[in-house]
Parts: sequence; C-alpha cells; structure tokens
Amino acid sequence: MCGIFGCVLKEGKAAPLIHAALKKLEYRGYDSVGEATLFNGVMYIKKDQGKIDEVHRELNLDDMEGSIGIGHTRWATHGAPYKVNAHPHTDCANRIAVVHNGIVENFLEIRKELEALGHEFRSKTDTEVIPHLIEENMKKGMNLIEAVHETLKTIRGSYAIAVLSVFEPNTIICARNESPLIIGVSEEGTYCASDIPAFLPLTNKAVILENGEIAIIKSDKYEIWTIEDWKPVKREPEVIKWTAEMAEKQGYPHFMIKEIYEQPRCLRDTLRLQDLYLDLMATFLDRAGEVFLVAAGTSYHACLAASYMFSDLAFLATHPVISSEFIEQEGMAVNINSTILAVSQSGETTDTLAAVDYARNRAATILGLTNVVGSSLTRVSRVYIVQQSGPEIGVAATKTFTSQLSVLAQLALRVAKIRGKIGHRQIEELEEKIRQMPDIVEKTIKKNDPVAREVAKEFRDKQVFFFLGRGISSATAQEARLKLMEIAYVPSIAYPAGESKHGPISLIEPGFPVVFICPKDETRKTIIGNIMEMKARGATIISVIEEGDEEIKSLSDKYFEVAGSLPEMLTPIAFITPLQLLAYYMAVEKGLNPDKPRNLAKSVTVK
Ligand code: F6R
Repeated sequence: MCGIFGCVLKEGKAAPLIHAALKKLEYRGYDSVGEATLFNGVMYIKKDQGKIDEVHRELNLDDMEGSIGIGHTRWATHGAPYKVNAHPHTDCANRIAVVHNGIVENFLEIRKELEALGHEFRSKTDTEVIPHLIEENMKKGMNLIEAVHETLKTIRGSYAIAVLSVFEPNTIICARNESPLIIGVSEEGTYCASDIPAFLPLTNKAVILENGEIAIIKSDKYEIWTIEDWKPVKREPEVIKWTAEMAEKQGYPHFMIKEIYEQPRCLRDTLRLQDLYLDLMATFLDRAGEVFLVAAGTSYHACLAASYMFSDLAFLATHPVISSEFIEQEGMAVNINSTILAVSQSGETTDTLAAVDYARNRAATILGLTNVVGSSLTRVSRVYIVQQSGPEIGVAATKTFTSQLSVLAQLALRVAKIRGKIGHRQIEELEEKIRQMPDIVEKTIKKNDPVAREVAKEFRDKQVFFFLGRGISSATAQEARLKLMEIAYVPSIAYPAGESKHGPISLIEPGFPVVFICPKDETRKTIIGNIMEMKARGATIISVIEEGDEEIKSLSDKYFEVAGSLPEMLTPIAFITPLQLLAYYMAVEKGLNPDKPRNLAKSVTVK
C-alpha cells in the first residue's frame, strides 16, 4: 500500500499542496517520499528514503516551481526503501514521471523486453516499467494519452497511477485497477489521490474512479474513459460529508475495523507474489533437515496453523515455536541442517530477531515472512517474502494474520508440488480455492458484521470466554482468544477441543460462553461430541460454521456462518474473521479504544 497524489492548479505552486496531501496519506506508507512538478517545460523531481518530515527537512519539498505535479509516499513492495526505489519513476529521458500504488505482476517479463530494446532501469521496483513502456509506445508514434492507454493494456496486476509528462504540460493522466483512486474537484484546480483525506482541506467534491478506468485531469475539468474499450464515462462529483478524521479511516470509526474490512484486498495482493521467491523458499524448506517456524503473538498463531498445512499437504514436519522460548526450547538442536522460517509482520520483534540471530550463529538457514521490506528480518534472511498487507495501524493484528496464512498456504502447496505428495487434481482444487478466498472472506465479513454486533451486545458483561477447535482450527481458536483478550480485556482460554476434558472443562457452569470453530472437515464429528459435552454442563454455545451446517446450527445458541465451503487447510483464513469482528464489537460495547489497547505496542522491540 502506498499513497499517491496529483494536482493541476489554475495558478500557484503545486508542491506545498502535494507535500500537505502526502502527510495525510502517510498512514498508507512512510518509508520514502517523492514529488515531481513541471515548470516551463522542465520536469523537477525530489525524492528520498525516509519519513516525509525527514525528507522535507533535507530537500524542502515545498520549494519546487510549477502549478502541476504528482507525489508519492511509499510502502515498499518491490525493492528496498532506498532513494533509487522512491517514486516518482521516470523514463530514460526524464520526460515522463509516474507514481504508482499497487503491484505490476508481469514486470519482470516487461523489464527484460524493454532492456533488450535499450531502456536503462535505475531501480528495483515493478513501477519503473510503466514510464519506460509509455516512452516505448511514444516511440512507435502514439501521443501521450494513447501511450498510457496502451501501457495499461500491457501491465497485469493492481494499480492506481498518476502520470506527469512534459509532452502534456497541463494534464495529469491517472488510472485505476484494484487500488483506490479518487478525483477531487475545486474552483482552484483538480486533484487525484489514493484517498479522500489527501484533498479534503481543498475540496469536498469527489469523483470515485472505478476499476478499469482512466482519467485525464486538467485544472478546470476531468474526463473519464474505460481502459478496455475507450468508452466515455459520465460521473458527477459527490459531496463528501466526512470530517478529516473520519476520512483518514475511510469513514470507519477505528483502524481495526477498517483493517478487518481490508482483508479481501490484502488477500488478493498475496496472490500476486513473485513465483521466484515462493519457489526458492519452498526449495529451502523441502531440503531442510528440520524446520522451525518461529514467531510471537498472532504471527505465532499463523505458524501454528502453518504446521498443519506443511504436514497435511507436503508431509513436512515443522516445529512451531514461540520466539521468546526458542533458544531454551530448541537451541541445542539447531545446527547447519536447520531451517528457521521466521514470521513477523513488523520484521522488528526483538524476540524473533534474537531467535534468528542465535540460529544464524549456529549456521542455520534463515527464511523470513514479513510485511515490511527493509525491516531487520529482511536483512538477515537468506530469502524473504513480503506479505503485501500494507501498513497496519490498529495495534491488534488482523489483516496481517490472514495475509500470513495465505502466503503460508501457498508455500505449503509449493513444497507439496516439489515433493510430489499430493495429486494434480487436489493441487488444482486448492489453488482455485486460494484464488476464491478474497471473495469468501469479503462475503463472510459482510454477513457476520451485524451478528457480531448483536452477540457483543448480549455477551458484553461475560467475564470469560472459552475457544475450542480441532486440527488446524485449534490455531484459529488461539488467535480468536488473543483478539478478544487484548482488545476487549476479557481473560479467555483456548484449547484444542480434545484437550478440554483434561482439565479446563471443570470451569464450565450454566451460561459459560464456549466458542466452537467448526469447519466441515474431518474433525467435525468429534467436535459435535465436544459441543454435546459442553451443552450437557449448561454452556452457552457460540459456533463458527460453514454456511448451511444445520446440524451444528441447531446445537448452537448463536452462530456465525462462513460464506463458502473450504478445504480444511484454508479454513483459518475465513473462520477467524467473524471472531475478529466479535473482539472489535466487544471492545466498542465496553467503551474501549480497539486501536490502542492499554500496555501494548504495535512493534515489540524489548525482550
Ligand atoms: C496481536 C499482535 C501481537 C503481534 C506480535 C508479533 O494482535 O499484534 O501479538 O502479533 O507482537 O508481532 P510481529 O508479527 O510484528 O513480529
């Protein structure tokens, strides 16, 4: 996730407006920043790595001439956060500048072709292919707009882009596919931005660009066209009634709920990972003597689920270990044949880095899964994968958890392929289901939002909850418990359901809320037995079930329905979402701020 902004003014300097707009978009990314403006036919660019304020102190982002310009605040996806990778990116002759939010999936092929034609690339980003492609298309005789249009037909993936060029000095061309882009319209000029807060101080009149649309903006007008068949689109501006604070959260009251709703988009982005890195990591895992999955908190729960995936799909035994325990628990067993797959959203969790450091000193191979390019974890990993969730502001991990699960499921499937452990048909079915996950999660969240509100109202005064699941769902149960505990301060317990009768069942008395995670998988029959045990002792049963599971519905006092049927290994990705909503609404019911639970920090950098 990155933030882009463009403005075409009737008069005055664009640079200070771009700078102010980027500050409003900083929540979308903050590892580098850049601006480009045009003045008297010359393109001016300032960019560097670092937060906007730091870069502004060094370069003075306001001091650029021209009443037209574009800007970008970056959250690295391809290429570390260095100056050369900061946007805007330009063509060979520095006459076309582009800012981009999204992922160009086929950038490697395009780059190779363009390099063969003599184009010189300066960065490691996927974005840089865009200005070079536009340049190449112009060489073939197209004008700027035609060349941008042709480029959009060539690139695959997600994008919101804004293009500035000396060839059309009074125009910005922007386009959207799966990354947001909104046009702002005022008496003074026209703007385009990743999000409304960027231009809200300038205007409250907004035109939302849809997927597959291109817009040509000038200081006094905008035109919208479809990319596929170049048909004009008539769309009038809407008046936005949000306050600046509401707009930053896209109208949601908290970042946590916004991020819960962002999960379908994040899952879509996990489907755009480069094959190269997935294959490389899968090869390391396949060849490892033993594999330790090392992480803390929510990331540890992703590892716990992954241990079921690796075993079930790839017949690969892995050891999920809490990072702060790793050295004591497994330390002496680590050697040159060990592979550590460290999972950390921030890539900065001290306990996880300490475990990694220890394992490196014993010559183990380090693999990393993180959300932050350039984080400490990426620097010490032999291979790392970036999970593409975009920045997570709410302290509780939500979208980063489901993205981790999606990446880990894809990895397990790759190892399975290398090992020839599952058949062709099963691989295809799983791949198809992974592709469907964003839609299933989207429907599940929408459907369960009102249910979670209602359950939270009814159960807000309960002192404790019990979460149970079998198989991979025991990881879902652990994560659901952590969410409720850390956000709504409800001290809760989670167990693999089979273990509950070895002690915890003694807690049960009439009205005790027990949440069962019940996918329609191999464990279902047994879990029904566990539900009956709890019912017999008067527990109140809340279940998360597959849509239409009438039998478990009839045993439950309340239920959340997941919209679709899933192979067992993918169930945590969808089954956790109603329980994230439950934790969120419990906190809201209790008058707590879910974004900032007491005593917790987003990144835990102490032992
Ligand atoms: C829980 C949560 C924490 C983190 C943990 C690890 O909602 O956010 O438990 O999961 O601190 O953080 P990362 O993944 O950054 O290593």
